[in-house]
Amino acid sequence: MQGVARNFFTLAVVYALCGMALGLHMSISQDHSQMPVHAHTMVAGWLMSAVFAFFYHLFPVARDKTLAKVHFWLTAVSGIGLLVGLFFLLGGNAAIEPVVAMSSMGFYAAMLLFAFIALPTVWKS
Ligand code: HEM
Ligand code: HEM
Repeated sequence: MQGVARNFFTLAVVYALCGMALGLHMSISQDHSQMPVHAHTMVAGWLMSAVFAFFYHLFPVARDKTLAKVHFWLTAVSGIGLLVGLFFLLGGNAAIEPVVAMSSMGFYAAMLLFAFIALPTVWKS
């Protein structure tokens, strides 16, 4: 695994470790108020980043494009902004809401960019 594929795989494992640690904390403390952060860290973080990693591993043509690097950084920055922001928002810090809103839109834009990169690649292959 190389380049953007390896970056996504590393990001996926970091999300899994953080998300599961939060899940354990929720279970032990019996306080599930951070459940949306745990759920999104696991599925939108760990699972989606792993799918991106294996996609770019299977299609080196897509991996070597500059747009793939843009896709990685937009996904990473907006995803982390979304999850960290949501953690503080659910913790009672309402002022952080614009960060969560902007990050959500960035995360959606990253998915649109992935559609733009991935669909032509799979249809041409
Ligand atoms: C150390 C392992 C884990 C622990 C201790 C843990 C713990 C929890 C807890 C306490 C909840 C809240 C349940 C509720 O309030 O109804 C939850 C929800 C959730 N977890 Fe985990 N979890 C773990 C691993 C995972 C993994 C590996 C995934 C996915 C890959 C995952 C995905 C989810 C999702 C999607 C929800 C939300 C479910 C819903 O909408 O009701 N969790 N987890
Ligand atoms: C633009 C990014 C996203 C936004 C703004 C968003 C927003 C939301 C909202 C508002 C809920 C309801 C939470 C609640 O009722 O407490 C939710 C639930 C959920 N979303 Fe997302 N979502 C996003 C991306 C995703 C992605 C990409 C996945 C999966 C790959 C996902 C999986 C889930 C799951 C499993 C739940 C149920 C667990 C929960 O209630 O927290 N979401 N999402």
